Amino acid sequence: MIDKQAKELRLQYCNYGQEHVFKFWEILPSEKQVQLFQQAKNLDLDYLSKIIRNAISETPPPGKRFGSIIPAKFVRFPNSETDWQKWREAIAIGEQKIRDGKVAAFTTAGGEGTRLGCIAPKGILSATPLKKKSLFQVFAEKIKSAERNYETSIHWIIMTSERTHNETIEFFGKNNSFGVENIHFVKQGQMPAITCEGKIIMESTSRIAMHPDGHGGSLKALGKSGLLTMLENMGIEILSYFQIDNPLVRCIDPYFIGMHVKNQSQMSSRMVKKLYPDEKVGVFCESKGKIYVIEYSDLPKEQAMLKDQDGNLMFCAGNTAIHLLDVQFIKQFNGKDISSEIPYHIAQKTISTINELGDPINPQVSNGLKLEMFLFDILPFAERTIILESERASNFSPIKHLEGMDSLKTCMQDQLRLFASWLLAAAVDIPTDSNGLPPFDIEISPMFADNKHDFLKKWEKLDPKPTIAAGQYIE
Ligand code: UTP
Repeated sequence: MIDKQAKELRLQYCNYGQEHVFKFWEILPSEKQVQLFQQAKNLDLDYLSKIIRNAISETPPPGKRFGSIIPAKFVRFPNSETDWQKWREAIAIGEQKIRDGKVAAFTTAGGEGTRLGCIAPKGILSATPLKKKSLFQVFAEKIKSAERNYETSIHWIIMTSERTHNETIEFFGKNNSFGVENIHFVKQGQMPAITCEGKIIMESTSRIAMHPDGHGGSLKALGKSGLLTMLENMGIEILSYFQIDNPLVRCIDPYFIGMHVKNQSQMSSRMVKKLYPDEKVGVFCESKGKIYVIEYSDLPKEQAMLKDQDGNLMFCAGNTAIHLLDVQFIKQFNGKDISSEIPYHIAQKTISTINELGDPINPQVSNGLKLEMFLFDILPFAERTIILESERASNFSPIKHLEGMDSLKTCMQDQLRLFASWLLAAAVDIPTDSNGLPPFDIEISPMFADNKHDFLKKWEKLDPKPTIAAGQYIE
C-alpha cells in the first residue's frame, strides 16, 4: 500500500526538483520509510515551491521594498493636563472592555531560542530576581491579578512550537496552570529548511529538517486550530499580544486597550525610543500612509543615523513586540494563502544535515535558510493603527541572549530597578547605585501590583508596611 503511494509521492517531489528527499529510500528500514513518507506527504509542495521561489529570487529586502519611508507617528507619554485627561478617559474605556470579558491574552512561546541556547521552552526559564519564578508564572500572575482587579475571566492563548509543546503542557500540568483557568495551547506550524539553491535540507536519511514558521505563524495556527472561531463565539474582540521573553510587559493594559478602542484601531503597538542608531530592534516607519516595522538589519544606515534639530533619532520608534489585535482583523487572514502579501523572512543558519553518504554532519558555517513569517508584517493591512510610546524601564527588557545585552542578567537587573523605582516613588528609603540598581535582591509579586500606579495605591493602604531589606518579597 505505502509502496504505491510512496511512488506517487516521489514522483511529485521529482517534479518539484526535490527528488533527493528520497535518496536513501531503498535502504531505509520500513518504519523509517513510513516516517519519511508521513512527513513528506504533509508538505504542500505547491505552496512550498512558491515560497522557495520568492525566497531565493531577487526580491528586494523589506527596507527597500517599501520605497521611500518616513518615521511613523506615535502618541507620546502624557505631558500636560489635557494629555492626562485623555489618559484617564482611555483607562476607563480599557477597564470596561476588560471587565466585559472582551480581551484575551496571547503569548507566543514557540520558536527555537537559539541565541539563548536553552533546550527547554523559554517560558520555563527562572526569570525573576528573588523568587526565580518562571516566565510562565510571571504572566499567569499578571493575568490572575487582572482577573481579580476587574472581576472577570481572561482567556490566555499560548502558542508553542513542535519543540516546546509537550514540555510546556507538562509544566502547566505540574503547576496546576498557576491558577489560571482558561488556558488554550496552540501549536505553530513548521517549514522545511532549504539550501540557497532552494533544495529541501535533510536532517537525516529519513527526516526533513524542519523549523517553526515564525511568530507570524500564529495567524495560521489560530485559524487552523479553531481558536479564532472560539474567540469570536465567546464575544472576545481584542487579543493582547506579547512574547514570552519580556517579563516586564503589562499583559493586560487598560490604557493601551482604551487608546486602541478610542482610535478604532485594528492593530496597535507599543514602542520604546531606540537607545542608539544600531540598536537591534525593528523600527516603526510609514510609507504611502501605511505603517510597517522595518527590521534593524534592513533599515538603511543613513536613515538609522538621521537626527532632528534637537539631536534625537528620527527613526526612533523601536518595536517592543507588544500589540493589540482585533479578532475581526485577524480573521481576514484565516484560511488564505497570505504568503504573497506577507513575505517569509529569510535567515541564514547552520543546520545539522547529512553528507552524500547519508552520514550526519554539523556544519560550522551557515549552510541553509530558514523561512519565517513575522506578525508585525500585518500592520500595513490595518485600516487604522495607533502606536503608543512606552517607558522602556517599565515595559521592555527581553531575554534573548545567554550573556551580555538582553540577557537573563540584564532582565533581572531591570526588574530590580523597576521594583526599587516604585518603592522610591512611595518614599521608601532604599539604597540604589547611580543606575538605580539596589545592592540586594527584592521582588514585588504581580499579584500585589504590576505597575507603579497600582503599586502606590496598594502600598499606601498597607499597614504595617514591611521594612525593605535584602530578600524582601512583597505579595
Ligand atoms: P525570537 O525572534 O527571539 O526567536 O522570538 P526565538 O526562536 O525565541 O529565539 P532565536 O531567534 O532562535 O534566538 C520572539 C518571540 O516570538 C516567539 C518566541 O517564543 C518569542 O516569544 N516565536 C518566535 C515563536 O513563537 N515562534 C517562532 O517561530 C519564532
